[in-house]
Amino acid sequence: MIPDALKFTIEPHIDNSPQGVEVRNPATGGLLARLKNQGVDDALAAVDRAESAFGAWSGITAKARSLILKRWYDLIIHHAEDLALLVTREQGRVLKETRGEALYAASFVEWFAEEAKRAYGRTIPETVEGKTLMTLKLPVGVCAAITPWNFPLSMITRKVAPALAAGCTVVIKPSEETPLSALALQGLALKAGLPHGVMEVVISNNAQGVGQVLTKNPKIAKFSFTGSTMVGKHLYAQCADTIKKVSLELGGNAPFIIFDDADMAAALEGVLASKFRNSGQTCVCANRIFVQTKAYDAFVNALKLRMEALIMTDGERQDADLGPLINKKAVDKIKALVFDAHSNGAHLIEAKVDHEGGSFYPATIVSGVTPQMAIFAEEIFGPVASMIRFETEDEVIEMANSTPYGLAAYAFTKDIGRAMRLTRKLNYGMVGINDGLMSTEVAPFGGVKQSGIGREGASEGLEEYLSTRFVSFGKVD
Ligand code: SIN
Repeated sequence: MIPDALKFTIEPHIDNSPQGVEVRNPATGGLLARLKNQGVDDALAAVDRAESAFGAWSGITAKARSLILKRWYDLIIHHAEDLALLVTREQGRVLKETRGEALYAASFVEWFAEEAKRAYGRTIPETVEGKTLMTLKLPVGVCAAITPWNFPLSMITRKVAPALAAGCTVVIKPSEETPLSALALQGLALKAGLPHGVMEVVISNNAQGVGQVLTKNPKIAKFSFTGSTMVGKHLYAQCADTIKKVSLELGGNAPFIIFDDADMAAALEGVLASKFRNSGQTCVCANRIFVQTKAYDAFVNALKLRMEALIMTDGERQDADLGPLINKKAVDKIKALVFDAHSNGAHLIEAKVDHEGGSFYPATIVSGVTPQMAIFAEEIFGPVASMIRFETEDEVIEMANSTPYGLAAYAFTKDIGRAMRLTRKLNYGMVGINDGLMSTEVAPFGGVKQSGIGREGASEGLEEYLSTRFVSFGKVD
């Protein structure tokens, strides 16, 4: 069921015929809606509308754009509870977290509404007498974004709000698992006064065909994607022909390192927040939890007690701590990783699922993981804590960096010298020291190596949607 207050955003897109895109609740399998399944021609038309809207949108003042973004922010806040419910129903994440997701999404709109007015160019001291040198910051043009299902609101606003602030127009293809959130955001943006064509949404089961339009169409200047490294590589290659500006937020394999000298209570809270947020379905989730030998057994035991107390059930239940995975395919992938680890000697501790049906995988600790196991190398994307014992700082840094990914890393220690060394030596785009939850709109989010290109959030996030024009004025008397 779609919350009443958001029906006006979704009803125009309903198509109850068998061709419609089915949106189901992963906790129950129940049908939430069938939406018009748009094709390649619809995507091309959306790009054309975004191109037509670009001149007027980029032509108004930054302050005028900022005011519309602020009204959008106010409407998201006003509907935060409705949006939270919608995300819980279409994505499965528990209500106490989706309330946070609505606010997290709104925070990007608020931040970039403010940043819209600060897209400063600069003047450059001349080298030839009489010349005036300067740079202008201009919107890159029409942008396209493919967004994931795991944060169906905030991964849209983290891309769209800076694009709109910069004066760009955007065509979004949200995940077909969570299109309702995208339509709700678009409906609220229109209500806030965003002109038609500035934010287009294409809902489609034809991810490949629409993906090709968004990556190959020469009218699009900038492409942004959040999703797996495998798909990201493919889309990146498709952008090459038209030399698009590209941002990629891809997979991770986050190390979470706990030294003997750490505040163990804080480290435990950090692991719980990082590992079990969104039932483990985030790119920055602790994927490999390294614990120094002396602390290892006590830490695993403490984690077991806390994990077993978490309630895994339908996210709409007020007491739910953990919800289902997005679909059965995700469950099967995790089953295979855990089976492989167990067959190679790891020990399993499994918590309970308090629900029948749906795509649930129980919260699990896999203890005694080694670098030879698939679970060490692959992104788990589920509520499975993979535990590795280590002896020395050098050894754990080497293991932590031995991955093609480089998104987020975490370390818990009270030794300030060690903490400083880790901030330099961990080869990641984001490093949390004694902090298991770093995400915020005011800091640059993004990875190195095969975890991506570019940054989202903060002033860096606006820069991604701007181009720098150098202007040289000859002498004017
Ligand atoms: C992600 O998993 O892609 C985003 C996580 C975050 O913003 O914290």
